[in-house]
Amino acid sequence: MTERLTIRRPDDMHLHLRDGEMLRAVLPESARHFARAIVMPNLVPPVVTGAQAAAYRARIRAALPAGADFTPLMTLYLTEATDPADVARAAAEGIVTAVKLYPAGATTNSASGVRDFDRVRGVLERMAEIGLPLCVHGEGSDPEVDIFDREAVFIDRVLDPIRRAVPGLRVVMEHVTTKEGVDYVATGGEGIAATITVHHLILNRNHILAGGIRPHYYCLPVAKREAHRLALRAAAVSGSPRFFLGTDSAPHPDRLKEHACGCAGCFTAPNAIPILAEVFEAEGALGRLEGFTSRHGAAFYGLAPNAGTLTLVRGQEPVTCPARIAAGAETVTVFDPMMPLHWSVA
Ligand code: DOR
Ligand code: ZN
Repeated sequence: MTERLTIRRPDDMHLHLRDGEMLRAVLPESARHFARAIVMPNLVPPVVTGAQAAAYRARIRAALPAGADFTPLMTLYLTEATDPADVARAAAEGIVTAVKLYPAGATTNSASGVRDFDRVRGVLERMAEIGLPLCVHGEGSDPEVDIFDREAVFIDRVLDPIRRAVPGLRVVMEHVTTKEGVDYVATGGEGIAATITVHHLILNRNHILAGGIRPHYYCLPVAKREAHRLALRAAAVSGSPRFFLGTDSAPHPDRLKEHACGCAGCFTAPNAIPILAEVFEAEGALGRLEGFTSRHGAAFYGLAPNAGTLTLVRGQEPVTCPARIAAGAETVTVFDPMMPLHWSVA
């Protein structure tokens, strides 16, 4: 049995770092294991312009612990008022790595997102010209559509039409949660890829709802049936370069998770890599972990793989991870994978 595994340092291709006190609390947890992360722009107010992305990047850099080796890759929050020239300038200046599309109302802080997709056509065409990828939150907010069907419906009604209308656009379907999503990406040609979270490899909807409601397992897109979780696991360990890690680690204060109207998000940054090692080992695919965490995402974004390495060690006894971290006066609960973890980062 493998006792040590050395991989290129991982990239987290979908991460929520927030701002202020929460940023300072959660950033060290990502910087410890990840060399780079694609940072989501859904602050309040959102990161809409190149100048705002540059300012947010400076705040992230200032919050890094001394000696940390971590590069935040910034995104812009697409609105119906986004200026294609500002996007192109921010990309040319190396300020942004992608643009994020939130359908209005779909998730946390998405109120400024897109309602009418024709109104962002000019931005998308410009992005296709300059090769700037679009990260898509792949579900809508139509109250007529059942929450468990929103991803599949979004692919048919929005994502596929956008890709047909703007054929050169490179698209990352973020946090894919369904077999339909996996199939769409696997058969979708060169220009599409998907991120998969750690928690969607572990959770099905029973874990959220059966035997009591577990708010720390509530995220968006919501975890689906077991068959979908199995499709995600198969995609993650398949070795296909179309699928790569984006944790969607999304911290919220416990006070707002354990609430009558709890926030969506699982905070996985501290234990994402040990959980993935356990999952890939269980699937007999440890040899493919590095592709998923450290190679496929970089390749899709046209980035060189990280120079450094990360060594994982497997112990006989399970290791424990703190159940929560402090963020100023708040606490944030760390994702509980409901299984013993034997792998830790050396
Ligand atoms: O669970 C989620 N949390 N899904 C999202 O799309 C947003 C994120 C957040 O920002 O909290
Ligand atoms: Zn997210």
